[in-house]
Amino acid sequence: MITLEQCQQWDAADILAPLKNQFELPQEVIYLDGNSLGAKPKKAAEKALAVINQQWGTDLINSWNKAGWWDLPVRLGNKIGKLIGANDNETVVTDTTSLNLFKVLASAIGIQKQKDNHRKVIIAERDSFPTDLYMIEGFMAMINQGYELKLIDQPTTLPDIVTDDTAVIVLSHVNYRTGYLHDMAAVNQLAHKHGALVIWDLCHSIGAVPIDLNGSDSDFAIGCTYKYLNGGPGAPAMLWAHSQYQTAFNQPLSGWWGHAKPFDMAVNYTPAGNVRRFLCGTQPIVSMNLIECGIDIFLQTDMQALRKKSLHLTDLLIQLIEQECSGFDLTLITPREHHHRGSHVSIRHPHGYEIVQALIARGVIGDYREPEVIRLGVTPLYLSSVDIWQAVQHLKEVLQTQQWAQPQFQTRRQVT
Ligand SMILES: Cc1ncc(COP(=O)(O)O)c(C=O)c1O
Repeated sequence: MITLEQCQQWDAADILAPLKNQFELPQEVIYLDGNSLGAKPKKAAEKALAVINQQWGTDLINSWNKAGWWDLPVRLGNKIGKLIGANDNETVVTDTTSLNLFKVLASAIGIQKQKDNHRKVIIAERDSFPTDLYMIEGFMAMINQGYELKLIDQPTTLPDIVTDDTAVIVLSHVNYRTGYLHDMAAVNQLAHKHGALVIWDLCHSIGAVPIDLNGSDSDFAIGCTYKYLNGGPGAPAMLWAHSQYQTAFNQPLSGWWGHAKPFDMAVNYTPAGNVRRFLCGTQPIVSMNLIECGIDIFLQTDMQALRKKSLHLTDLLIQLIEQECSGFDLTLITPREHHHRGSHVSIRHPHGYEIVQALIARGVIGDYREPEVIRLGVTPLYLSSVDIWQAVQHLKEVLQTQQWAQPQFQTRRQVT
């Protein structure tokens, strides 16, 4: 039986607890949606003002050189690299995850075609975040070269479907809905045994679980900075390519930022001889600058410490839901095994949407994903055991009193 006192004791012994002070979160809010939009680092407002007033307002166009705007995609990429087992100059921050998927998919397919042209299968999960499937579909339709998309329904069936016809496998490291965590090294090994390449979507794992892209022999990775990395709404995404693939193919979104000598203003495209060739055009500099505020907080600790706390909090959340809310038709869909769990907990309930709305009205902010999924993000940088205790008490009250049935919680809003 877990008690509030026990949660207080855990918090008193939590060495990561002071990091919460570096975020600005409303007092009355328990924020369980850092897996969708990370919280605001306190330094972000100061940084935004410096970029807008000094760099833009005063230094004007000089800031491309003076403030290092031009190099920002690689400079930020190198900082993020420290969280994902990447070497310097292997990661860029640019564009969106969707666009970056297009670029690395085109590269991976191109690399495979250079070797031989018989591999015509792309594998993904039916339960992928839909944009990944949409981008694969769009790419296949555009090149129109007889590629087939095979979707798996269970992560465990991957070994049954990968063959020597597989060109590329696109997987979310952590599933956005269930929180299932793939064994990155094992999947890479399986794929490489059959000559396939893997693209990892890190949106729900970057900043949430330890990642070692080089150590696990990965090929390509893409992911958001606005979730666990706390980069700000709509902040540009990251893209990583193994050093052997950086210049192996010329990705087709060949904009001037990816040119070897952009200011030569040459008529023809010559790709940069490094990871910069994955850039396309001018980046949202204000937004991009803010990403550094979030990453700098991570660099004060390490991913192993964060993982330990994340697993403690997700274990606690699961145990408390079972202890406090049994008999209310809740079904856990997040794996219980640590090695298959990311940093969020998802539970199904037939009135999941309404329950999430009632919780939000109480200041417990999670989100809802079809079908019936209440998704509760557990961000170890700014959540405590007592936060989890209180969140579950609110959930219990919402269920016991059927508060979710009130009319104001029935209307579907645009963003769920
Ligand atoms: C797993 C996954 N991939 C891709 C995306 C979408 O990324 P973007 O909107 O930056 O293209 C999301 C957004 O939530 C996601 O969860």
